[in-house]
Amino acid sequence: MANLYNNLNLIDLNDYSVSWWEKLLERAHEIMADPSAYAESCKGKIMGTLFYEPSTRTQMSFQTAMLRLGGTIIGFDNPATSSVAKGENIKDTTKIVSGYADIMVMRHPVAGSVKAAALTADCPVINAGDGGHLHPTQTLTDLLTLKEEKGSLEGLCIGLCGDLKNGRTVHSLIKAMSCFKGTSFVLISTPELALPAYIKDVLSAGGHPYKEVSSLDDAVGMLDVLYMTRIQRERFASPEEYEKQKGHYILDKKKMSKAKDSMIVLHPLPRVDEIAIEVDDDPRAMYFKQAKYGMYIRMALILTMLEENSLKVPLITGKVHEHQKCSNPLCITHKETYLPHYFRGEGTMLECEYCDERTLVE
Ligand code: NCD
Repeated sequence: MANLYNNLNLIDLNDYSVSWWEKLLERAHEIMADPSAYAESCKGKIMGTLFYEPSTRTQMSFQTAMLRLGGTIIGFDNPATSSVAKGENIKDTTKIVSGYADIMVMRHPVAGSVKAAALTADCPVINAGDGGHLHPTQTLTDLLTLKEEKGSLEGLCIGLCGDLKNGRTVHSLIKAMSCFKGTSFVLISTPELALPAYIKDVLSAGGHPYKEVSSLDDAVGMLDVLYMTRIQRERFASPEEYEKQKGHYILDKKKMSKAKDSMIVLHPLPRVDEIAIEVDDDPRAMYFKQAKYGMYIRMALILTMLEENSLKVPLITGKVHEHQKCSNPLCITHKETYLPHYFRGEGTMLECEYCDERTLVE
């Protein structure tokens, strides 16, 4: 039986209220002021980190966060060294680990996979990136960086540049920033790597002004924040398609000279070539500091999720449509075929509960 309500999971930041995010940001601010005061806060607690996909910052900042809170960690960063290599499905692996750990952090290359794990897990599950879909804890990192460095999350003109199609950090950040008054967006990409329709719907629904442009040079002068991203090579159908897209956008000193003095540059990292090394010394380059903020917000998140016992966040709000298939070939329901086909909505257009893509009723 699916576990739809029992644990508090973080799959999509938008499952929570803005005031819940703001409390986390405040808590992270307090932790930063005196980290040693929290050194025993999670004593005796165990965090499982299941990374089916490469990671440096997300994995290590989660692990460091737990260690700094006095807890311990188990897990893998290479599924080839676990029973996944023997063909074990997500349900079985995560069910077992969730019985060993008090909280579980999971990254996986397929959209909707972390929600799929949370359905049957026995402890809270945190999404550390599910394919090209979402990356809520990177967004918490980005929100903390914006709050600390810009002073407010309202009224910002944010430029997002690079792989807006496959970049899960972009999708989560846009969904979150759409909840703040006065945000406007400049979407800088090639037409092939434009934002998916379901995220554009979020922008339109929130009434936020946005424009889609192809030139970073033309856009940079109007921005308060520039969010650079890597072209997501691993998500392309073929190496040739990646070759056509790489190297289009490179932020260098010349482009920085056209930006406002108050603009800050964010990047979830890793970078490939989209920010020239010469930009690192510019005081507006905030990406290394951003990665450190990531550790503090994850400390705040772990603490909050382990102690929260009254909040109920339903994992599934739709219902099973047994014979309906999700239209997204990259959705977890096509890989783990035992999963119930949960969809939201009624009528001819349904929304997949796992990957959020819209599907025409068959
Ligand atoms: C990002 C990710 O994994 O989505 N990295 C991160 O978590 N800091 C961005 C990327 O890989 O390009």
